[in-house]
Order: sequence, then structure tokens, then C-alpha cells
Amino acid sequence: MQLSPLQSRLAASLAASFFLLVVYIILFSPQFALAAEILSEEHGAGSDAVDAWALAESMEQATAETIDLRSEMYEPDFPLFDRSVIGRAPSGVTSLTNNVKSNQNLDKGSSIKFVFEASSLSSREAEIFELRKRLDDSQDAELSVVEDDQNGTELSELRQRATPTKTLWISANTCMQPERPEANQTAMDPPQLTLYVSTSSDNDSPGPAAPPDNQEVRVFDQGAVMYNMTFSDDVYFTITAPNVSDWFTSSLYNIEVAASVDQSYHSYDTNTEPDLVWVDSDIGASLLRTGNLTNGSDTEVSRTPYTMFAYQQGDVSVRGVEKSYCGLKEYAQIGGSQATTALMSTGLTRRGQGNSTKQEFFITGLNKSSVYEAILVQEPNSGSLSKRDNVAGGGGVVFRQTEFDTKSTGTCMVISNLTFCDQTAYSVPSSSKYSDKVDDLKDFYDSYAQEMYANFEKALAQIQCDAEDTSKYSLARTCDDCRDAYKNWVCSVSIPRCEDFSKTDEFLQMRNIMATNSDGSSPVDQYTKQIYGNAAAYNSSRLARIDEEIAPGPYKEVLPCEDLCYTLVQSCPAALGFGCPTPGMLGFNTSYGRRLTDANGTSNAVTCNFPGSAHYISAAQASVTFSSVILFGAVGVAMLWL
Ligand SMILES: *[C@@H]1O[C@H](CO)[C@@H](O)[C@H](O)[C@H]1NC(C)=O
Ligand SMILES: *[C@@H]1O[C@H](CO)[C@@H](O)[C@H](O)[C@H]1NC(C)=O
Ligand SMILES: *[C@@H]1O[C@H](CO)[C@@H](O)[C@H](O)[C@H]1NC(C)=O
Ligand SMILES: *[C@@H]1O[C@H](CO)[C@@H](O)[C@H](O)[C@H]1NC(C)=O
Ligand SMILES: *[C@@H]1O[C@H](CO)[C@@H](O)[C@H](O)[C@H]1NC(C)=O
Ligand SMILES: *[C@@H]1O[C@H](CO)[C@@H](O)[C@H](O)[C@H]1NC(C)=O
Repeated sequence: MQLSPLQSRLAASLAASFFLLVVYIILFSPQFALAAEILSEEHGAGSDAVDAWALAESMEQATAETIDLRSEMYEPDFPLFDRSVIGRAPSGVTSLTNNVKSNQNLDKGSSIKFVFEASSLSSREAEIFELRKRLDDSQDAELSVVEDDQNGTELSELRQRATPTKTLWISANTCMQPERPEANQTAMDPPQLTLYVSTSSDNDSPGPAAPPDNQEVRVFDQGAVMYNMTFSDDVYFTITAPNVSDWFTSSLYNIEVAASVDQSYHSYDTNTEPDLVWVDSDIGASLLRTGNLTNGSDTEVSRTPYTMFAYQQGDVSVRGVEKSYCGLKEYAQIGGSQATTALMSTGLTRRGQGNSTKQEFFITGLNKSSVYEAILVQEPNSGSLSKRDNVAGGGGVVFRQTEFDTKSTGTCMVISNLTFCDQTAYSVPSSSKYSDKVDDLKDFYDSYAQEMYANFEKALAQIQCDAEDTSKYSLARTCDDCRDAYKNWVCSVSIPRCEDFSKTDEFLQMRNIMATNSDGSSPVDQYTKQIYGNAAAYNSSRLARIDEEIAPGPYKEVLPCEDLCYTLVQSCPAALGFGCPTPGMLGFNTSYGRRLTDANGTSNAVTCNFPGSAHYISAAQASVTFSSVILFGAVGVAMLWL
């Protein structure tokens, strides 16, 4: 049959419209294609096909939601899809799917091949990516191609445009490494593994034998490797174990490997300062704390975002896996599965700077006079507790070490969790009779501070602090400011912060030098005793009750910060008669300390004590203009004489 010119034009335009429709379906309604694909794959599997329909439908909804909200948080699992795309990899090659780690044993001299198949991106992920891409790109470009011409080659070009070029992160951790012989702990560390990533489709088995031009090589760094690349096709990579010497008692490595299109599954961060501060230690325990977990004090935190490991400096068991989360889990002396005598507990607290939530770690069972390294690991913040594994960044972020040490004698003891002085968390003067009665020690200090505060409240009531506006003592300060300032002051002044006598820092104040340790020894030399032994500031503690009831050995005190005194004077009614001492007064150098900073304006030493003080790296304020200050020119309230 012959078509008239008009008819043939109609036919052509119909064909064009049909073609456009097809293109439209491919581009804009991917869920049709998806469902069809599943149906054909599951063909004949009756109920499976129905399931697939249901899934496709739920996914369609999920996709719609994701598009609407443009939220990246929505991460449902569709195991069926994952399964349907696994297993196409050549035999002997482990196929990885997005954010799902693979755990493998690796013997010396051997290697394991992996592939991340572009098609393994679950259809949903591919779709979301495509949609995002489409929203980001100008849609005009794609449309103009469609309008341009309508022959077959254009379609494949379009398909290619729709195939995403995106970033793939490959990462791995060494969980186990060859064991050193027990007797020889110091000689040689187990050698690191190596990652080979193919950068060309010609090279589907990267490794030492493959042509170097077609691959990238990364040696693990302290048990971890991170690599990223753009990809649009399957990515092959290999991890090889070196031929370790027979000297090691085993030759087996165990690794955790993952590939992700979202972010590196395993990470380590050696650049940023770990958000961990060492608060204080005693002879066998140490308290550490993270920075603010939230911006404000109102936000509630429900779960602890960090985990921590620690080991004694010089301990070789973690050597080679310091940047590997699973390696630390296996080998760390503290926090790892190779349990030692040390125990660690963790929880949330509002102590420390500001009133926002922090995470606190308390370790007991440490060796005395030892230096330790703590390593903070940030857990992924999505996924349920039991299924944190298969989420983006599921391998955690390992930070670099934070150093802390323990004291040499039992004279100082860490206390925290006090009822009244709730900000107090540091070492205080103690003695052997309190070594297993820390609660009694806490009560002793806390109840005294509380008693003093009660007296202060009485004095405050007498001067009618909460009077009418017209007779208020200050427009800028309230009675609550005065109460806060007094509490900060009294908790810092009546609960001395204790240091080893052997510490030689200038800002430390000798106390109780004529006393002896529980075992009768004294760390104080005769010369010092002769010179200072008759001065009350050195031959006793700040409070007589401490010497009477606790009877600590000689120690040094981190003096309370002078600004606590100034704030108290400024915040309280003059009628209370508070006054700070001025330079030159008796006892000038023995009652208050100053916040010190070095040339860079930073200090990690606790040069004076204040509520929530800790060994901050980026510390406090610039120093106050004049030197240390001591006693109150206390008029009126007798208990200010401390
Ligand atoms: C990819 O790796 C390079 C180093 O190889 C790094 O500088 C870069 O930040 C990484 N990119 C991303 C997005 O992680
Ligand atoms: C700290 O914040 C919490 C929650 O916002 C609040 O209940 C509490 O009173 C605050 N504490 C102080 C000392 O401001
Ligand atoms: C923590 O947050 C408080 C406010 O809640 C703020 O005053 C303080 O400076 C913050 N500390 C750090 C180290 O960011
Ligand atoms: C204490 O020291 C001993 C001997 O050096 C060591 O074996 C042990 O692991 C250490 N314990 C801790 C908790 O550091
Ligand atoms: C403080 O008390 C909390 C809750 O009672 C507990 O979880 C935490 O371990 C205590 N901290 C220390 C250092 O004892
Ligand atoms: C400490 O010094 C005071 C005042 O100088 C003196 O009275 C007291 O006897 C001394 N105490 C000791 C134990 O030497």
C-alpha cells in the first residue's frame, strides 16, 4: 500500500511519538523497567514474582519519598534485590555490594580478588543517583538530545548519559595479623598488607604481577587502607598478604573489606585533633571525656557515639593495627577482646565546659607511673544498634592517639559523680584507708562543701538578697549568679586537686610535706623539709580536716583559679564582704593559681583548678593581668578563710 505524503508524515510522527514515549519511560519511570526486570529474573518462581511486585511497589513509594524529601537518611534494605544481583562475578572473585563488609582470612603470600559490580548498586540506589543527577544537571540538555534526532544510536548515547559516573570508596581494615613469638615482643612488627586497584577494564586481576600502568597500589597504613576513584564500570581490586617470615608463630591475616558509593566505609582521621580530653588520673584509674556532643544544652543524646581503646605506651600488641577499628577490638589492651586487668566504663555526662552532653570514659586497673595512649573511634550515626554494620561509614572513624598517664603513689585518688559538687571530677588527696572506699571519700569532700554552702545561704538570706528590684544590689547580677559563683568557688577551694609530689611544675603547691605516705616513706627531701617545714602553707593541707580525717601523704596541689575569686566578688552583694587578695599579701602564692597559656595561646596543662577542668589542648582564656592571688581579705563570713 502506498501512503500519501500526509499519511507518511503521520506515520513518521506517530513513530517519533512512540519513540519519545519509550525514551520517556526509560528516563522518567524507571520503576516500570525495574519491575519488569525483576519479573523476568524471577520468572516462573510464582510467589517470588508476587513478592517482587510488592517490593517493587514499596520501592516505588520509597523512591517517591526519597525524591520528595531529597533525604539521604532513608536507607531501607531490600535484600531481594541485593541477592538478585550477587553472584555474577567470575569464580574466585569476591563480589562486594554497597556498604556491606566482607570478612576474609588471608594467609601469607596469598591474595584475594574482589569486584564491585556497577550493576550491584541496587536499582533503587542507581535510580536515586540518576534522579539526583537529573535534578542537578540541566534537564534541557537531555531534552534537546531527544528532540534533536530520533535514530537508534541516540538511544544508546542517552543510556550512556544515564549511566552514572560516580565515586567508589574502597577501604579495608586488618583485624588480625601474624602473631609474634611470646618471648620476643620487641623485634619485628608483622608486615602490612597491600591493596591493588585496577584502573582499566583490561585489567580484571590487579596484583603484583599485573602491568603497573593499569593499577594503583596502596600499602596499608597501620592496618587500614582508604582509596577512592570515579567509576562507571565494574571495579576489580586485590588485597595481598606479604610472605611473612617463619619467625611469626602464625601467618594468617584476617581482613574486613568494603566498597561504598556513599563515603569510605572504614575511615581514619590523622589530621583533626581527636575530640577527647584527659580529665585526670590516679595511681590506677583515669577519667577521659569527649567534647560537646551537641551544640546546645537542650538537645538530648540517647546513645554514646564513641567507643574507645587504650594501651600502655610501648605495648607491641596493637602495633600495625592502630588505624583499624576491628584490629583495635582484637588487640587493644584496654577496650579490646584481649582482656587484661583494666576495665573501662563509659556513659553520658553534662560535666565539663558548658552544660551540653559529653561522653565520659573511666578506666580502672591501670599500672602506676605509666603513659597510655587512648584511641577514640566514632561509630556510624545511622542504623540500629544491632545493624550498625551495613550502613554508610559502618566501619567507623578511628582518630589519632591521645596521651594520658597515671600517678606514682596512692596519695591522690580520682573522684567524680558527687552530689553537690556535680562538676567535680579529678584527683583529690586520699590515703590507703580510702583505697577501696571511694564513696566515703566523695562524701567527705562533698558534705563539707555542702555545709559551707548552707552557711553561705544563711548569710545571703540575712542581707535580703532577693529583695525588690529597687533595692537590688546590682542590675547586672542576680542572687542566682552569686549562688553559682559561690558554689564554683567553694567546690574548687574545699576539694583540692591533687598531683604527685614528684611533679615539678612551677604552678604546683607543696602540701603536707612533713607527713609520710601510708607505707612510712616520704618523697620529700630533708632540705625541703628544713626550709618549708615550718610554714603552714606547706606543712599542712588547705583544710585542717583533710589532714585530720584523711591523713594523706605529701602531695602537690593544683591551686584554684584566681578568676573564681574575682567572679565571686563581682557577683555577690558587697554586704557579704568578699574580697580577693592582692599581690604582696601574706600567702600570696599559696592560695590561687592562674590560667596559663603559652606563646600560641594554648596549654594542655591544668595550671589551676576550676569546675570541669581537664587537660584541654586548646585551653582557656588569656591570663589575667596580675599574678597569683591567695587569701580573701575576708570580712564577715569566716568560712572564706581557706
Ligand atoms: C579521595 O582520595 C584522595 C587521596 O587519594 C583524597 O585527597 C580525597 O579527599 C578523597 N576524596 C574523597 C571525596 O574522599
Ligand atoms: C543543663 O541543661 C539541662 C537540659 O536543658 C537542664 O535541665 C539543666 O538544668 C541545666 N543545668 C544547668 C546547671 O544549667
Ligand atoms: C561546649 O558547649 C558549651 C555550651 O553548651 C560552650 O560554652 C563550650 O564552649 C563548648 N565547648 C567546646 C569545647 O566547644
Ligand atoms: C601493666 O604492666 C604489665 C607489665 O608491664 C603488663 O603486662 C600489663 O599488661 C599492664 N597492664 C595494663 C592495664 O597496662
Ligand atoms: C557516674 O555515674 C554514672 C551513673 O550512675 C555511671 O554510669 C558512671 O560510670 C559514673 N562515673 C564514674 C566515673 O564513676
Ligand atoms: C607547721 O607549721 C606551723 C606554723 O609554722 C607549725 O605551728 C606546725 O608545728 C608545723 N607543723 C608541723 C607538722 O611541722
